Amino acid sequence: MSSPNDAGTWKGPAILVENVHKSFGEVRALSGVNLMVEQGKVLGLLGPNGAGKTTVVKILTTLLKPDSGRVLVEGRDVVRSPAAVRDIIGLAGQSAAIQEDLTGRENLDIMGRLYHLDSETRRRRTNELLERFDLLDAADRPTKGYSGGMQRRLDLALSLVALPKVLFLDEPTTGLDPRSRLGMWEVIRELVAAGTTLLLTTQYLDEADELANQIVVIDHGKVIAAGTSTELKNRVGGDVIQFEVVERSRLGEAAETVKSLSRSEPVIDYEGGSVSLWVGNNGSHALVETVRRLDSLKIHTEGLGVRRPSLDDVFLSLTGHGADEAEGSSPARRRRGSRRHQKENL
Ligand SMILES: Nc1ncnc2c1ncn2[C@@H]1O[C@H](COP(=O)(O)OP(=O)(O)O)[C@@H](O)[C@H]1O
Ligand SMILES: [Mg+2]
Repeated sequence: MSSPNDAGTWKGPAILVENVHKSFGEVRALSGVNLMVEQGKVLGLLGPNGAGKTTVVKILTTLLKPDSGRVLVEGRDVVRSPAAVRDIIGLAGQSAAIQEDLTGRENLDIMGRLYHLDSETRRRRTNELLERFDLLDAADRPTKGYSGGMQRRLDLALSLVALPKVLFLDEPTTGLDPRSRLGMWEVIRELVAAGTTLLLTTQYLDEADELANQIVVIDHGKVIAAGTSTELKNRVGGDVIQFEVVERSRLGEAAETVKSLSRSEPVIDYEGGSVSLWVGNNGSHALVETVRRLDSLKIHTEGLGVRRPSLDDVFLSLTGHGADEAEGSSPARRRRGSRRHQKENL
C-alpha cells in the first residue's frame, strides 16, 4: 500500500469515491455514491439537511467506515490505510475540535504535537495561523469566550496545522454572519491558490458557485447531478422571471395568475415578497404575458425582469425543494407516503 512518502508522486485523482453505501441501522445514509476530485481542485458537495454530506466527509476522513465501495485519498485506501490517509488530510467539521478550557494558542500547539511537529515548527505555525485567521489578539484567552465566528476560524486554523494536501470542510460558514463568511471565503481561496485540494460541503448555493470548480448535488444519499455551476445552470435551461409584489398580502394571488406560464410551481419568497417563474426559452413572451395578467388584476409589482437561472433554481428543479428547507417537504418523502398508501390498499 501507499506510504506517506509517496504523497508528492501520486498523479491520480486526489479524492476517489466509488459506489459507496452506508446505513445506520434502518437509515440508508448513502446509496451508491461516486465522486472524483482532481488534485488542486475544489469540489462543492451540495445537499439539503440529511442528504448524506457529513457521512461522506466522515468516511473520507476515516471517522466512519463505508459498508461497501472503495474510497481513496491521494491513492490511499481509507479502510486499509487509515493512518496514511490521516497523515495528509485536514478536517474542519461541524462539531468543532476545540478544547474550550485552553487558549487558542494552546489548542494549535496541541494539534502540532499530535502531528509530531517539533517545538520550533509548532511555534512558527501557530503564530502564522493566528495571524492569518485574525486571532492574534485573542490568542492567549480561553476559547470558551470566543464568538461563534472566532471559534469557526480557530477550527479551520486547527485543520491547517499540518499543511494538509487534502482539506475537508463540512459546512464551514453555516451560522456565520455575512462578514465572517466573506473572510472565510478569502482564506479558502488562498488555500486553493497554494495547491490544496478541497472538498467543501454547504447548504449555501452561492458559496458553491463562488468557490467550487465542480459541484455535486446529493439528496437522500444519492448523487442527483454533477458538473460545473454553468453546466448545471444550462441543464435547467431557459429563463427565470422574477418580480416583487408591493402588497405582500397578494403574493399568493400573483403567483396563481402567472402559474400557467411556469414550467414548475412558481416559487414564492414570503420574506423577500417576490415570485419567480421558470419559463423555459420563451422569456420575452412570458414577460409580456406576466405584465398583462398582473395589470388586469391591478397587482402592483417592482423589479420585474428576466434573469438566467441561479444555482438555487437548479437545486429546486432537481430536488423539488430549496436547499435550506427541511427534508419533510421533499417529493421523495411524499412518494414514500404514497407507496405506503398503495400498500394499505392491497
Ligand atoms: N450516527 C448516526 N446514526 C443514525 N443515523 C445517522 C447517523 N449519522 C447520520 N445519520 C442519518 O443519515 C442521514 C445522512 O446524514 P448526514 O450525513 O449527517 O446528512 P447531512 O450532513 O447532509 O445533513 C440522515 O438521515 C441522518 O439522520
Ligand atoms: Mg452535515
